[in-house]
Amino acid sequence: MTKILAIETSCDETAAAVTCGSAILSSIKVTQEIHKEWGGVVPSLARRDHEKNIDYVINKSLEAAHSNYSDIGAIAVTSGPGLAIALEVGIKKAIELAKTYNKPLIKVNHVEGHVLSPLIQKEGAAEVDVEFPCLGLVISGGHTQLIEVEQIGKYRILAQSLDDDIGEAIDKGARMLGLGYPGGPQLEKAANTGNEKTYSFPLPMAGREGKMFSYSGIKTYLFRLIESLSNKTSTGISSDIVCDLAAGYQAMIFKHLIRTVEIKIKSEMETGKTYSTLLVGGGVSANNKLRGLLESAMSDLGIGVRYPACLDLCTDNAAMIGVVGGFKADKNQFSDARDVDRDPRWKIDNL
Ligand code: KG4
Ligand code: ZN
Repeated sequence: MTKILAIETSCDETAAAVTCGSAILSSIKVTQEIHKEWGGVVPSLARRDHEKNIDYVINKSLEAAHSNYSDIGAIAVTSGPGLAIALEVGIKKAIELAKTYNKPLIKVNHVEGHVLSPLIQKEGAAEVDVEFPCLGLVISGGHTQLIEVEQIGKYRILAQSLDDDIGEAIDKGARMLGLGYPGGPQLEKAANTGNEKTYSFPLPMAGREGKMFSYSGIKTYLFRLIESLSNKTSTGISSDIVCDLAAGYQAMIFKHLIRTVEIKIKSEMETGKTYSTLLVGGGVSANNKLRGLLESAMSDLGIGVRYPACLDLCTDNAAMIGVVGGFKADKNQFSDARDVDRDPRWKIDNL
């Protein structure tokens, strides 16, 4: 099995990992704190921080895996989707290392990394233990996609967002509620102490048979609701109200997600498809409330749900890029350095 050095710089995590098959030998990331004060990722600042930290994460990942370039078989790098000027940093470094150490290059799709992240084993070079076709759900700041995984490397998008992505709506909502960035964990915490029934939020795409995901309408609804509640007080809305709003907003965001996923899966099943597993990846998959809701909805369809083995594998990381790189190395899917370029809108059904 080829040992892979993987590099990921598509957004605001500078990450490197060493993997072998679906096992992680090391996984190092630096989360960029700089974006907190802006309430969202600023591409030029992301690039600057990637440039500052890339050598550190690579060297650290080799050291932690007790590896060096002589035992690395190939270098995998995220080529897209993501922020163009951030992707460039990882790609440039991967090409430079491939030339210096005479290693083959593998370009990896970031969403494919998230989809397959539940298959990663933290220890031991385990084989892939999932039945195909299966389903993948990628829910993060930049992606909301339900995907059919026909086999590793072959995907079909069943549903995606028409506008805002789920994590984006969560982060923006959390910001409006004064909960900080990134908003997911804070919104979850506030929602846990709030009452989701105090304020009713509209179900996105209601009456449209759950064709696609859509999160911009509910985000605007929250904005107006906060505005009207704020107008009724001179002291600002209380923390109890913030928690109730967080609970109602998060509950409806998840209700829409699960409803759409259920409708899409049922319609595939009606055509004779059978699935036993849903692989869930991306930062939003860290949410415990969502996990409970998804598991109960999927068990009604006879589908088991699998998540990444730890929180660090839910959010952006290089281990998932390395594991996909390993699958590609097994199939000799290497790329010439001239063909490894940033692809900010690269779709998983066009690998
Ligand atoms: O996968 P990721 O690191 O980056 C992208 O590829 O976009 O996901 C980041 C997203 C953010 O929107 C963050 O707020 C969300 O994942 N997130 C969560 C939780 N932890 C992170 N959303 C809901 N609940 C959480 N516990
Ligand atoms: Zn991601």
